[in-house]
Order: sequence, then structure tokens, then C-alpha cells
Amino acid sequence: MAIQVAIDGPAGAGKSTVAKLVAKQLGVKYIDTGAMYRAVGWLVLTKNMDAKNEEEVLRLAESSRFRLTDSGIEVNGFHLKNEIRTEQISALASSIARLGGVREVLVDKQRQLAGEQSVVMDGRDVGTHILPNANIKIFLTASVEKRVERRFKELKKKGHNPSLNTLREEIIQRDYNDKNRRFAPLTRASDAVLLDTTDLTTKQVVDQIIQICRTKLGGGE
Ligand code: DC
Repeated sequence: MAIQVAIDGPAGAGKSTVAKLVAKQLGVKYIDTGAMYRAVGWLVLTKNMDAKNEEEVLRLAESSRFRLTDSGIEVNGFHLKNEIRTEQISALASSIARLGGVREVLVDKQRQLAGEQSVVMDGRDVGTHILPNANIKIFLTASVEKRVERRFKELKKKGHNPSLNTLREEIIQRDYNDKNRRFAPLTRASDAVLLDTTDLTTKQVVDQIIQICRTKLGGGE
């Protein structure tokens, strides 16, 4: 039986770190849906396009080929890693994610990438929209302060010198965008397990999700 695990939540809740580790432990494919919005943002930037021109961005998304790899994402043959993790691309991806037509195209591609196989997929609308029949749905959250702190440490480690106030404003803005957009806004699926990661280590979160998977799949729901 295929195991499909949907992990959703706001920016900085630790989704991708956790999802990657859960996929590894389960021995299944990991699909980072946010990386696809980021990759479209990167294409828009490198092609000098207007991110608000819905028709053009839609055509671009439709005609692009995506492949998720162990180390990042490949779009139209370009392998992208750190270049899609900048604040500029985060803001672009967030604004592109508001475009209903683009979402439809990417959701379609995300469903195709998952197919019938076992996957761990993370994003904002996986449990509610992309894989509504996922066997396991997790909604990860953490306080704004904790998410700012995590982002700060991550950027510091990469040699950047971020301002805490700017990071806080960016996280609050992205939360607002994600929750208030017209199409598929960030919301917890009614059958998702809520996990607040504020005071948990990565290992504790991963262990809890693996335990939830065992319970569900072992029939001990
Ligand atoms: O998870 P992330 O930060 O890499 O996501 C980048 C942006 O894409 C973020 O603003 C939310 C949006 N996104 C979305 O709307 N739906 C998804 N399934 C994944 C990401």
C-alpha cells in the first residue's frame, strides 16, 4: 500500500527539514512543493519578467518541466539549490503563489509527481488540496518568535547577516499572504494532526510523525 504523508504549515515551522527526514526514514520520495513556486520565481527573475503578469507567469509555469532531486529542484534543466532560498525569491514565490491559474498548473504537476507512489509532500495546501486522500496529514506550527529565531540561525550559518526585525516583518507578511490569498489559502485540514514545534527539537518532531505513521498504518488508529 502506498503511504502518502502531507505536511503543511506556515513559513519557518520546520516543514522541509522534518519532511526530508521523515521521507528518509520511511524510504520514500520527498516532494517539496514550495521549491516549485520558488523555481518559477527564479525563472521570472532570470527572464526579467513581471511577476504580476498572470498570463505570462502562467504560460511559463505550464511550459516548465520540474524534477525534484535529492539535493534540490531541477527546472528546465537548471539545477537549483541555494539560489532559490534568498529573501528576494521568497517574496517572489509568495506573490506568485497568489495567482490562481499558476496554482492550478503547479498543483496538477505536483499530483503527477506524486502519482500513486509513496511520498512525503510538504507545502501549504497538500492535505487540503493536492493530496486530499493522503493517509497521514500533519499541520506543523511554531510561534512567530521561534520561526524568526530559526530563520536567523539558518541565514547566519550561510554567512549572511540578517536583521531580526526585518525577518520578523517578512515572516508576518508571508503568513498574511499565505492565509489570506483567494486560492487555496493556508489552513489546517480537518483531519490533520496539529503539531506545535516551538519547544520541540527536529528529532522529537520526526519521531512523533513516524509514530503517527506507525499507529495509522499499523491499524491502531
Ligand atoms: O515552503 P516555502 O517557503 O518554500 O514556499 C515558498 C512560497 O510558496 C510560500 O510563500 C508559500 C508558497 N507555497 C504555496 O502557496 N503552496 C505550496 N504548496 C507551497 C508553497
